[in-house]
Amino acid sequence: MLSLDQISSYQENGFLILENLIDKRDCDNLKERIHFLIENEYGNEPISIFDTDREKHINDEYFLNSGDKIRFFFEREAFVDEEIRKKPVEARLNKIGHALHDLDPVFNKFSRQEKLAELVHDLGLLDPLIVQSMYIFKQPHIGGEVNPHQDGTFLITSPDTLVGLWFALEDSTLENGCLWAIPKGHHDPLKSIFVRRPEHAPGFVDYDSTPWNLKEMIPLEVKKGAVIVLHSRLPHMSFENRSSQSRHAYTLHCIEKNSEYAKNNWLQRSPGMPFKGFFP
Ligand code: FE2
Repeated sequence: MLSLDQISSYQENGFLILENLIDKRDCDNLKERIHFLIENEYGNEPISIFDTDREKHINDEYFLNSGDKIRFFFEREAFVDEEIRKKPVEARLNKIGHALHDLDPVFNKFSRQEKLAELVHDLGLLDPLIVQSMYIFKQPHIGGEVNPHQDGTFLITSPDTLVGLWFALEDSTLENGCLWAIPKGHHDPLKSIFVRRPEHAPGFVDYDSTPWNLKEMIPLEVKKGAVIVLHSRLPHMSFENRSSQSRHAYTLHCIEKNSEYAKNNWLQRSPGMPFKGFFP
């Protein structure tokens, strides 16, 4: 699947861009399916707002129990303005997560394509598990900024084997809030972890509170159908979307089965629904 140059580029830089890996019709299928899920699965959901502001979400049971469900999270700005409040739910969601890949047949089929299994295998996961999926809207005009972070902060394994796959379902540009990342930033350790704690609300444990140098961030603009592979410790972010174009993306996070998934990770599965690999 990957050339040796691509593998060494990933190891050196902490990310890898694979243009045209996904058929554009598959991108459209996911967008149509998400429309169907919102029409049919979004019922009397509690209002939960996705906010990368550190102290949010912490006591939000709807969020904390979403690891084995399909749940709907709104943009912070979805409720601020009267005109925006009148828009349909679909125009105000920030993301849907976190078990689309196991619970929905269309997302299951997309997520478990042979070429994706080969891709993560080439990156060193010999027996991969898919632990998380998200559909991200980055809505026109109100799409919120995602603060600089490392994905490994939120999905801890020992040793650290997390690999993120970020699928561009639409062109992702400077205007509509593409990803930004610090090349080679993954050579530094995790700055913090976000964990469940006994007798406390889940929260961050900081190892290094110095902020990342945003001047080192470079934009990762990609076309619809591209995949961006992200190392667990690669610092990345995205700015808000003030353009009139949405920037839909789908993400998967994989770990090596033989690495230990932290018992205090925020994302946990119920006993009847363990993490699964790419194939039965
Ligand atoms: Fe991320």
